[in-house]
Amino acid sequence: MAGIVSKTVLDDIRFRSDIADVIDAYITLPRKGAVVKTLCPFHKEKSPSFNVNRQRQMFHCFGCGAGGDVFKFVMMYEQVDFPTAVRILAEKAGVILQFDKGSEPSSDKEILITIHEEAAALFHRCLMKDPIAQPAREYLKKRKLTSAIAEEFMIGFAPDQWDFTVNWAKSRSFPMDKLELAGLVVRKAEGGPSSPFYDRFRNRVMFPIRNEQGRIVAFSGRTLLQDPKAAKYVNSPETPLFRKSHVLYALDKARREIVEKREAIVCEGQIDVIRCHQAGFKTAVAAQGTAFTEDHVRILRRYADGVILVFDSDEAGRNAALRATTLFMQSGLAVRIASLPAGEDPDTLILKEGPEAFQRALQQAVPALDFQINLLSTREELRTEAGLMRVCKAVLATISQTPNAIQRDVLLQTAARRLNVSVAALQSELRPMLKHPAQREAPAEKPAPVARPAHEVMLAEHLGAGQDQVGLVERYLPLTLVSDPLCRRFMEALVFSHREHVDIMEVLTQRDDDNRTLSTFAAGVLSAPSKAGAEGSHHQAVEGLILGIWRTELQRRRLELEQQAATSTDENTHDSLIAQAQQLTTDLNRLKRWDTGEPILQLYAETEPVGSG
Ligand code: UTP
Ligand code: MN
Repeated sequence: MAGIVSKTVLDDIRFRSDIADVIDAYITLPRKGAVVKTLCPFHKEKSPSFNVNRQRQMFHCFGCGAGGDVFKFVMMYEQVDFPTAVRILAEKAGVILQFDKGSEPSSDKEILITIHEEAAALFHRCLMKDPIAQPAREYLKKRKLTSAIAEEFMIGFAPDQWDFTVNWAKSRSFPMDKLELAGLVVRKAEGGPSSPFYDRFRNRVMFPIRNEQGRIVAFSGRTLLQDPKAAKYVNSPETPLFRKSHVLYALDKARREIVEKREAIVCEGQIDVIRCHQAGFKTAVAAQGTAFTEDHVRILRRYADGVILVFDSDEAGRNAALRATTLFMQSGLAVRIASLPAGEDPDTLILKEGPEAFQRALQQAVPALDFQINLLSTREELRTEAGLMRVCKAVLATISQTPNAIQRDVLLQTAARRLNVSVAALQSELRPMLKHPAQREAPAEKPAPVARPAHEVMLAEHLGAGQDQVGLVERYLPLTLVSDPLCRRFMEALVFSHREHVDIMEVLTQRDDDNRTLSTFAAGVLSAPSKAGAEGSHHQAVEGLILGIWRTELQRRRLELEQQAATSTDENTHDSLIAQAQQLTTDLNRLKRWDTGEPILQLYAETEPVGSG
């Protein structure tokens, strides 16, 4: 997104996007009310702990701690960043995005997206209607890719010309350097007489590659020719839009289904994916034109607990499956590998033997470790000691990758059984491998929750529950004394909302960062079970907590004075420092109770910028 959405537009979107309606559209909410509870879409659970608070316009899960405002929900559910969530909600709400100018240099991304979307439409029109695309239509017919499929996946055709795309770009007045950046045209080595550019994709069936949000960011073009010398597929180069390792073909279509089934089917080619989807296997994706990488695993992990890898049953495919296994193992994803009959890929298998045959192959998919043992047993002689040791070593190397101790234990038992050695023996071989991991540490789980000062969080909770008490903070507590930055920012927002009569969530929306850290924190605090029933006890609790925070502060100041006194060389200074420290001790005693402490707080508060930070 170029630039930052202006605050008023952001508020407009927030205002028009009722969180209960937005969430209800994704996961049907049980009934409409001020607060509804349902099963959390962000972690597995049996009884509902996911709260949607229509009044406060926020959500919070007591189970996994997920929470925040409507933007945060869309970010988490759609797995998008804040700017994209803003765009999605703006679209739903019919708000036109306006950007603050000058905030960010306008990127090439917008124009690149436009070029890709329009080029895809061009190639698609060409395939569907243009006489020039007759050979492509025949080719697709031969491969049983119907026009309905061509529509659904927006398949197109780039004709056998050097200037089809070049001329179109000129007619559309797209800057040629942007077309070059998009990878659709290539600059000639020596400037030609006519145009210095020529088309990258010629005589190819064009498959648009979409990112997770469904925007077209690249192309993959398959030749119509049988010529083994010509590259079968030509892909877009990496561009500011397209990082090969970040894109899985058809993930935009598959991800809803993957979230539901918790398992993805990973194929090798885009035609395989298309065939899978068409045959009802709607969780199929492919890493296209590149090996499977850690990034792909990371993407899939957000949606799935496990994957089935369907690789070609040739040597290259098996090796690719083995490599991918290690990656998945590191991420703690459950991996199974489906073997297809020799010479088949999902596309040909489904065409020849029907979806049932493919379904069977999926059902018979074996856990990655078994696959590895199967494969190695065909390559090594297990009856010889050397052969067995090599296999054990390879298998243990795989097992050592999992960050999960329980999974490791289960895998060890499998390996012991399959290789006919004792678990204990394998375990003792594994131990040194764990201490010195072959590659590197397993990817970190979620960062541990930050420990925040309990009394500050408690104060935030009380203030959130009984906002009438905010006046006490305004009068007696300079927020600079709140040590935890998130607690402080939350209380600042509360004071502001109290003073200006603005809804707290509106204030939070405005002040939050792109991770929505503040609104997630606020959702937790505001959903905390009420600490006190009656308003009066809230009042007392807040008084007590304010006193406590002040006492911490005065103790800190006293310590500082005593330290200065101890190092002071001048007697007068020393005595004066000690006297000040003694005064603090007297004050600290008074601050034990509200009635004696309140006058002291008034004094102190006068010298501090109270109520703001
Ligand atoms: P395959 O050679 O298995 O092709 O390559 P395929 O998917 O079965 O394609 P068809 O059925 O022959 O048309 C698998 C994937 O590897 C990438 C493509 O993404 C392809 O889908 N690939 C293959 C390339 O990027 N370039 C190539 O030259 C070949
Ligand atoms: Mn194929």
